[in-house]
Amino acid sequence: MTQEQEKIVAEIKQLQKEKNAIILGHYYVRDEVQEIADYVGDSYYLSQVATETDADVIVFAGVSFMAESAKLLNPEKTVLHPDTLSDCPMAHMADVATIEKMRQEYEDLAVVCYINSTGELKAHSDVCVTSSNALKIVSLLPNKNIFFIPDENLGRYIASKLPEKHFIFNPGYCHVHKSITLENVLEAKKAKPNVKMLAHPECRLEVLEQADFIGSTKAIIEYARTHEDKEFLICTELGVLYQMRKENPDKNFYSVGHRQYCPNMKRITLENVRDVLRDNLNEVFVTEEFRKAANAPLEKMLELAAK
Ligand code: 13P
Ligand code: SF4
Repeated sequence: MTQEQEKIVAEIKQLQKEKNAIILGHYYVRDEVQEIADYVGDSYYLSQVATETDADVIVFAGVSFMAESAKLLNPEKTVLHPDTLSDCPMAHMADVATIEKMRQEYEDLAVVCYINSTGELKAHSDVCVTSSNALKIVSLLPNKNIFFIPDENLGRYIASKLPEKHFIFNPGYCHVHKSITLENVLEAKKAKPNVKMLAHPECRLEVLEQADFIGSTKAIIEYARTHEDKEFLICTELGVLYQMRKENPDKNFYSVGHRQYCPNMKRITLENVRDVLRDNLNEVFVTEEFRKAANAPLEKMLELAAK
């Protein structure tokens, strides 16, 4: 860290004490932001922490649907988002009119909403899922017909594991994961034939078919820590490398190309974390009516994931 960064970190620590604030950080945010976060994790873990914390203020170092979900789950808390422009494009890639149309078409329909979605989409869904619990949750649903929004790749991956269900897919995607092609992966594997390939389920199905392990960011990091292999090919956003390298100094991690970068996650900086905490900026507000509707599928997710 530079001297300037160390100064900002000291300010943040002081402000946290004064305001009884915690910082939650996703694995894709900048290294220095992960370093100061009280909890770093995947979407599921961070939403659990958001429901359990005693802090008065939550600063959410992640994209906006994450901060919004924390507020939906824990409305008594002040939730601050360091940069309101840090928004996941995929969160907007579905629409209410299509959900309503599907509900008319299929009597026995469950609308399953990936947590990477706006509150509005959640409010029209039956249950939320994250990459770490989607398979378990969909398999627990009694419904045969599943409308999976917004991510088509995650939907297709879950569908490939549950042939007894009928899935309807929605054409949403993560540009970071979709940019990883089969050719990229085959080339990388050719260059490093002994690597274990670890992939996030937002990748294309043909990429996932090449993987040795498929899981959430947290699960990928755990796999690298707990397996004896020394070389790993990482098919997700490269923010995960910060934890992986810290935990496994003797292991080597390779990327498949140069596009594994989420510009929205990187908008969160030490400066904007400090600023929102100091000046109470970018507080997330939701009306109670909206909160009830959008939170119901999140609560259902927590309930089913705990089974
Ligand atoms: P995880 O839930 O695996 O952390 O993924 C969140 C995300 O945004 C992936 O692109
Ligand atoms: Fe959204 Fe993809 Fe960025 Fe995750 S990596 S926040 S899905 S754009």
